[in-house]
Amino acid sequence: MADNTQIIDLYTELAQNPKKDFGWDKGLVNAKAHGYKQEWIDVIDSKVWEFCAAVGNPFEKAEIKKGDTVLDLGCGAGVDILVSSLLVGDEGKVFGVDITPKMVEIASKHAKEINAKNVKILENSFDNIDLEDECVDIVISNGAINLTSCKESVFAEIYRLLKPDGKIFFADMIDISEPSSCNIEQSSCCSNDGEEDWANCVAGTMKEGELIELIQKAGFKDVVCTGHTHYTTAKTTKGATFKATKATKIVFSELRKAH
Ligand SMILES: C[S@@+](CC[C@H](N)C(=O)[O-])C[C@H]1O[C@@H](n2cnc3c(N)ncnc32)[C@H](O)[C@@H]1O
Repeated sequence: MADNTQIIDLYTELAQNPKKDFGWDKGLVNAKAHGYKQEWIDVIDSKVWEFCAAVGNPFEKAEIKKGDTVLDLGCGAGVDILVSSLLVGDEGKVFGVDITPKMVEIASKHAKEINAKNVKILENSFDNIDLEDECVDIVISNGAINLTSCKESVFAEIYRLLKPDGKIFFADMIDISEPSSCNIEQSSCCSNDGEEDWANCVAGTMKEGELIELIQKAGFKDVVCTGHTHYTTAKTTKGATFKATKATKIVFSELRKAH
């Protein structure tokens, strides 16, 4: 089970000490390796990139337009929020959500420093977000959804917040362990069940196919893994990017009324 105290402690530490080695890649070099564009790197201050713990590049496939409303789940210190702010322009809006108060404080500061007036950061858990139904065009996320044990509730919340036909583009860690090749004694070395590694993006990872199924069950269509990244947090994990579209639920009572 995810332990939010452990998660908040770790990401408070990252917020206070971005140069510390946590055992996983971060910073500008990592962002460049994921293909973050030079035009964003030129505009966003180098100290903001130091905090970036991206496991992939959700913008590679994201169809974000001027005027869109974007929501970033688990926004951390805000690199993806600032990139989104550039993409949606003054006529668009960007919301960031993070459970770690220190990350919310730093992301808000970074948005203020770049004069991004279209940005608002909320201190919420991503299964209970203080926004109205169907107010978002695009949801993005980077290395965060694996950190919760209630993933069904997260995708239900994303479904509630997206406008009809709204889309999600996210990067996250997936479980690539092969239990069939393990014997019982060895199984702990090739599975991601250890409680201790939730905060480090290991224990909460899911197999690619299981994650796709879970997103489909939440009411999304065209759910696709768009690629794998070089990122890893353990021998049994790998970064991956996904996209999905909110499908319209058929309400049978309304269908009956219409006939
Ligand atoms: C690995 S960091 C990634 C941050 C950012 N997306 C990036 O690319 O740099 C994960 C973030 O998710 C946040 N987080 C973890 N669990 C959360 C939850 N249940 N609700 C909201 N935020 C959460 C953490 O506080 C942390 O800032």
